[in-house]
Formats: sequence, structure tokens, C-alpha cells
Amino acid sequence: MLYEGKAKQIFETNNPNEVIVRFKDDATAFNAQKRGSVDLKGEMNNAITTLIFEYLSQKGIATHFIKQLDEREQLVKKVNIIPLEMVVRNYSAGSMAKRLGVEEGIKSPVTIFDLCLKNDELGDPLINDHHAVFLGVATYEELDEMYELTSDINDILIELFGRMNIILVDFKIELGKTADGKIILADEISPDTCRLWDKETMKKLDKDRFRRDLGEVTEAYVEIYERLKKVLGK
Ligand code: TMP
Repeated sequence: MLYEGKAKQIFETNNPNEVIVRFKDDATAFNAQKRGSVDLKGEMNNAITTLIFEYLSQKGIATHFIKQLDEREQLVKKVNIIPLEMVVRNYSAGSMAKRLGVEEGIKSPVTIFDLCLKNDELGDPLINDHHAVFLGVATYEELDEMYELTSDINDILIELFGRMNIILVDFKIELGKTADGKIILADEISPDTCRLWDKETMKKLDKDRFRRDLGEVTEAYVEIYERLKKVLGK
């Protein structure tokens, strides 16, 4: 094992350019102050991330994904993760609703991008482009490229989830640099990293069910997987 995070483990392989990602059932929230486990979450997030990364790849997005290995594991290209969380918001919710003192569920007339520094000790603070350049984690040119990639991913995901009768409220992605310096999509896209609301009932079908003790957490992850399979004809 090379690395263990809160929801995934990374293992080395015989190929120095490839690693294995193993998805765990462990769930944390509020910078790991709340801890728990969600039955089937690892399997669902592995399967959902696989389908979404394959779909994004078909649409021309460069990702680290190579192939699914089994229920919990996937093979991916080894990258250096850029220590920034790229957060996109199409509707108000979560920390932004709280910070701005507005209710959740207001559709934004513009796409909102937030940047958070990946640093558990600091609690992943919200930062801006200048802070990122100051810290040396990205250049302005790289940030431009990262926002463009993130925006393209948002457009594709809004359309995909729309066909699933789901509103993509917000999500977080992580980008990585390959050995030859290319910036590509890494990490995962799953109900752990997105807010997904049913269009008709507005029912939350994501990790907020765990964060806020709403119950039916596993059911929500399974529901997303089933709808995704249906629209992709899998
Ligand atoms: P936030 O409203 O808590 O800032 O979250 C924005 C989006 O980012 C939401 O879809 C959940 C996702 N997210 C993560 O994937 N990891 C995290 O550690 C946090 C705080 C949020």
C-alpha cells in the first residue's frame, strides 16, 4: 500500500506508471469529526466512478482511469495529485449556502468555482488563485487550464445526470499531473463527491444522507448506480 485516505487505499503494481485504487465503505464528514461506515459504498463508488470516467473519456476528457479490476478496485494511471479541490456549484448548498447566509437550492445564474486546499490539518480551507500560486501548487496558466477542464466536466455531467432525472447541485474533483506534465482528471466522481437531488421530489441521493443522518444512505448510492446504468444502456 502506497497511501491510505479516508475513503480509498492506493496500492502499487509491477508497473511504475500504474496504481490500484481500492474503495472502502468507510465514511467521514466534517474533516473526519464524524466517522461511520456505509454498506456497499465502496462497491457503488467504484462502479459509479468507472461508468462516469468511461463516459467522460468518450466525450474527450483525459482521465487517470484504465479499467475496473473487481467490485472494489480499479487500475489507474499514477499521477501526482494537485493538492487543490476543484469545487463547482450550480445551485446553492452546503458550505457556500452557510457562508453566504442563503438557503439551499437556489439556481445560480453563473457557474461558481471554489478552490480548497487539500490539507486535513487545516480542514481543507477555501482559498483563491493567488493563494494557490503563492503556495506554489499551481501557476496561473495551470489554473486557467484546470478551470477550463472542470467547466467542461460540469457541462457533461449536468447533461448526464439530467437524463437520470437528477439535478447536479455541486461536486468536487481532483486533478493530477502525469509524468509528462499533463493535467488529467483523477480521484473519483460519486455520491461521496457530488450533491445529487431527484428532479421531481428533490430527495437527496448523495453523501448528505450520511452527513446529516437522513437514513437510507446505501439505498441512495444504489439508486444513483441503477439510474446511471439505465441511461448508459449497461
Ligand atoms: P461543501 O458545500 O461542503 O463545500 O461541498 C461542496 C461539494 O464538494 C459537495 O458536492 C461535496 C463535495 N465535497 C467533497 O467531495 N469532499 C469534501 O471533503 C467536501 C468538504 C466536499
